[in-house]
Amino acid sequence: MWRMFNFLKKKADKISNWDFIQTDIHSHIIPGIDDGAETIEDSIKLIKEMYHHGYKKMIATPHISEDIYPNSKETIFAKRDQLREKLAKLGINIKIDAAAEYMIDGNFVNLAKEEQLLPLFDNYVLVEMSYLVESPYLDIAIFALQTHGYKPILAHPERYSFYHNNLDKYNELKNKGCLFQLNTIAFSGYYGKSVKKTAEYLLGKNMYEFCGSDIHHLKHVNALHSVLSSKHTKQLEEYHFRNNEIDLAEQFDSSSVLAGDSFHN
Ligand SMILES: [Fe+2]
Repeated sequence: MWRMFNFLKKKADKISNWDFIQTDIHSHIIPGIDDGAETIEDSIKLIKEMYHHGYKKMIATPHISEDIYPNSKETIFAKRDQLREKLAKLGINIKIDAAAEYMIDGNFVNLAKEEQLLPLFDNYVLVEMSYLVESPYLDIAIFALQTHGYKPILAHPERYSFYHNNLDKYNELKNKGCLFQLNTIAFSGYYGKSVKKTAEYLLGKNMYEFCGSDIHHLKHVNALHSVLSSKHTKQLEEYHFRNNEIDLAEQFDSSSVLAGDSFHN
């Protein structure tokens, strides 16, 4: 009897989707402008999967970098609008916004100074570095962001292997004012053991503010799915991610409601 009770309890405790996250703040679902979805059909497949996994809203964050992905507000928003139209035609009820994931390079510093950045919401900007070496522009970029009223969210800090043996660096970044965004699939082992271990460390120290999928293709969706049956899911559900605050901020942003759009689109 007791065994049966435990079995049923375990079943009830099982988390079957990601609806507790609500909004995915990091994804490469805009077709044909970075290393994510190649065609609009790819985009739709990815978005459908995320919808079925409980997400209510996705913020598309195509790469912007000086050398490889010279995207702009215009290229990103034009494709976003096509995607929204297609989703509406198909009756897929998920909200799609668009911002960017900025490589911290010289051009990024200029865009920050010119206040030409696309924030995820409010004044929060998603930034990344190479996985091989810390950006030489890191400090100057953080300073430029802050003096121009932006707040940096560092994408997937667990993936920067040059910090793995120097964990104090993460404290330094936090003290400088960087917020951290976890790539949830780090817990599937998709990026390797060292990344997973670092993600466990940062989560255990409550150093993340946000989480994101960073999906580029269906393999990432499968990895995200596999995290649902891992020991980390309960911890993720109980962790205070700030993803849900985005929708609250949106409700109070009356100008964007009037414009039929959200945040600083
Ligand atoms: Fe990304």
